[in-house]
Amino acid sequence: MEVNIKKLEKAQLFHDGKTKKLYTTNHPEFLFVEFKNEVFPMEGKKSTKVRGKSAINLEVASYIFQFLDSYHIPTHFMGKVGGKYMVVRRLEMVPIHVIIRNAAAGSFSKSFRMEDGQILPAPIIEFYFKNAKLGYPMVNEYHLYAFGSSNQDEIRNIQRYSAKINAVMKNFFERRNFQLIDFKLEFGRSGGKIYVADEITLDTCRLWDQTDDRHLEKITAGKKETEISKLYAEIRQRILHPRTKDEKLNLVR
Ligand code: ADP
Ligand code: TMP
Repeated sequence: MEVNIKKLEKAQLFHDGKTKKLYTTNHPEFLFVEFKNEVFPMEGKKSTKVRGKSAINLEVASYIFQFLDSYHIPTHFMGKVGGKYMVVRRLEMVPIHVIIRNAAAGSFSKSFRMEDGQILPAPIIEFYFKNAKLGYPMVNEYHLYAFGSSNQDEIRNIQRYSAKINAVMKNFFERRNFQLIDFKLEFGRSGGKIYVADEITLDTCRLWDQTDDRHLEKITAGKKETEISKLYAEIRQRILHPRTKDEKLNLVR
């Protein structure tokens, strides 16, 4: 049955997270996602409220999900409503962060004592168990089978989609003069199918600017609201309005 997402109505608060609020709607299969203005620097501890950040992440996430859709990658994204919400398919989440790495940086270069920026000969896909109390330990598929968190079929799909998303996203960011060092994905299931969920934004990707060598994850740490706000606006502009158009896209922005 076709659902007109413009007719959906916000019902109850379903999840109040660090960077997003999720609401149920009058349709059991769909949720509203509201982005928050909080910025949690990847390489710093203190969060900062940045006016306008929620609107930028809404635009960026929506754009990237539509981009993935054009490559037949199933995502939870259904559309935007009211200028404030992303409508998504309600999923049963697989309790992992999937991290895809193209070059050493962050926790990876610390663990393996590698130089930041060292290119990995092949991308690395890592799973971290999503449990804050345990400190998000790294796991492999066998942990997930033993814990009853997933099965072989699902893990095969998650790995296949992660590799494909990495390939298309690397190109996407290269066209915008960014090197995609690493990024995080989350997945969820509904009706026996697996979908990319949560968000893909500046907050979940480590991007290095190829025009001036800026490491974007480093420049938000400890900065004032106005500086972070300028950076988000600049990156938003470059993502949504690239000089070289996304060849497969003619998106409503
Ligand atoms: P956190 O919960 O870690 O503080 P967020 O502020 O990003 O993080 O909250 C979003 C939460 O919603 C995450 O826990 C994420 O796994 C979950 N989520 C994302 N997409 C969906 C979806 N389509 N259906 C159900 N839950 C989702
Ligand atoms: P890391 O180097 O700290 O392990 O991070 C790798 C990538 O994953 C980086 O692009 C940031 C992203 N990430 C998130 O989006 N959320 C998280 O909670 C973590 C730990 C990483």
